Amino acid sequence: MSSSTLTPSVNLRPYDSVTRFFHWAMAVGFAWMLFTALVRFFADETPLSDAVWPWHRPVGFTLFLLWWLRAAWAFMHRAQYQALSMAAKWGHRFIYALMLAVPSIALLRQYGSGRAFNYFGIPVMQASDNTIKWMTDLGGLLHGELGWLLFATVLGHVSMVFWHRRDSQTNVLPKMLG
Ligand code: HEM
Ligand code: HEM
Repeated sequence: MSSSTLTPSVNLRPYDSVTRFFHWAMAVGFAWMLFTALVRFFADETPLSDAVWPWHRPVGFTLFLLWWLRAAWAFMHRAQYQALSMAAKWGHRFIYALMLAVPSIALLRQYGSGRAFNYFGIPVMQASDNTIKWMTDLGGLLHGELGWLLFATVLGHVSMVFWHRRDSQTNVLPKMLG
C-alpha cells in the first residue's frame, strides 16, 4: 500500500489551544445570543425576557471584541487552517463576516440613536441629542435579519460537521476538540 493511501488528503491535526478556546467560548456566546433573540421573539415583555434580554447587548459586545482577537490569531496562524472543500472555506469566511457585521450594525444603530451605551459600567458611547438616521435605519433593516441568517448558517455548519463524521478522512470534529 502506498503511503498516499494512508495519508489523509486533508490536514486533520488539531488546531492550537487558543484557536479552540476562541471557537468554543464564542460558540457558547452565540448560543446565548440565540437564546436571548428567541426569548425576545416569542416571549417579549414577559418576566423571562425582562431577565434575559438585558444581557443581549453586553454579551453581544463581548463577542464583537473577541472577534478581533480571534481574527488576528486566525490570520497569524493561518498555515494550520485547511478546509475540507471550497464550500467549507467560504462557509467559514461567511460566518466570520456575519460574526462581525451583526454586532457592528447594532453598534452603529446604538450610536446613531444618540442613546448612551455602557459596557459593565464602562462608558462606550455618550448620550447625544443628535440622531443619525441612516445608522438607525440600517440597524432596523439588517441587524435582526442578519442575526437570524448567522444562526441558520451556524446550524448548517454544525450539521456539516456531524455529516462529515461518517468518514474518518473527513471527520473534522477532533480538530476542534483537540
Ligand atoms: C454579537 C452578535 C449578535 C447577534 C447574533 C444578535 C442577534 C439578534 C437578533 C437575531 C435579533 C432579532 C430578535 C427579534 O427578532 O426579536 C436582535 C435584536 C436586537 N439586538 Fe442583537 N445581536 C447581536 C449583538 C447585538 C449588540 C452588540 C447589540 C447592541 C449594542 C444588539 C442590540 C439589539 C437590539 C436593540 C435588538 C432589538 C431590535 C431589533 O430587532 O433589531 N445586538 N439581535
Ligand atoms: C456545536 C457547535 C459547533 C460545533 C460542533 C463546531 C465544530 C467545528 C469544527 C469541527 C470546526 C473545524 C472545521 C475544519 O477545520 O474543517 C469548526 C470550525 C469553525 N467553526 Fe464551528 N462548531 C460549532 C459552533 C460554531 C459556532 C456557534 C460558530 C460561530 C458563530 C462557529 C464558527 C466556526 C468557524 C468560523 C470555523 C473555522 C475555523 C476557525 O477559524 O475557527 N462554530 N467548527
